[in-house]
Amino acid sequence: MHKYFAKTLFIGKKAEYLPECQSTNAELRTRLSIQKLPEGYLLHTDYQHNGRGQRGSGWESEAGANLLFSLLLKPSKLLPSEAYWLNIVAALGIAEALESHLHEAPYIKWPNDIYIHDSKISGILIETSIDQGKLAHVVVGIGLNVNQTSFFEENATSMALHMGTLQDRQALLEDIALCIERWYLKLLSGEKEQIRQAYYDRMYWRGERHTFEISEGLVHGEIIGIDQYGNLVISHGTGLSTYDIKAIRFVN
Ligand code: BTN
Repeated sequence: MHKYFAKTLFIGKKAEYLPECQSTNAELRTRLSIQKLPEGYLLHTDYQHNGRGQRGSGWESEAGANLLFSLLLKPSKLLPSEAYWLNIVAALGIAEALESHLHEAPYIKWPNDIYIHDSKISGILIETSIDQGKLAHVVVGIGLNVNQTSFFEENATSMALHMGTLQDRQALLEDIALCIERWYLKLLSGEKEQIRQAYYDRMYWRGERHTFEISEGLVHGEIIGIDQYGNLVISHGTGLSTYDIKAIRFVN
């Protein structure tokens, strides 16, 4: 699976395919430590022996069934504290591309999981390097369940499970690259409020009352949005509270 990306301006114009590897994020970071690579460089594989997920977890994916790739961004004008915007543009790009294939609107579960109804279909792992106080290299790793139909995880789903037919992975990869590129270019041109609104429109559980687990126990509240650091803002009725990724878990 390795073809030329015709629709994008820079994402995937230089692409590399490995039949298998440890982790596309790790491979791309190793390459960056020894050579210069252009922005948009994309590395994809059919199988990862050591796929990495958020919060130190792994990412399991059947060989040859799904999309597993990492792309390189160089948002040199963004501050490290603004890196969460890259999670947002990547999630928006994936959700938008998926919507055009699924004909149904996916949700984004804060900060960046892509959900169909109540099941996770895609995850993003962003790894950054900082140079002189600015973001230098950003590796955006994406796993999307496409044609896998059985999972160990209870709440995982795939496009094939959802649609009942196998999907063309290359076409999807190109569409995702194109949609991420568009949202990324909006970010670079400062259109943060439009991006925030698009994110809010897709935000899982936003505006509904739900239960969350925090260090003190269970709390009930409603997701309002995110603050200027990308933290989750929840209204508990008596006021607003903000949580970072380690401080809160969605319950039901
Ligand atoms: C998550 O935990 O939701 C994030 C999963 C990210 C998985 C992708 S697969 C391609 C890239 N390489 C990795 O090792 N991880 C990311």
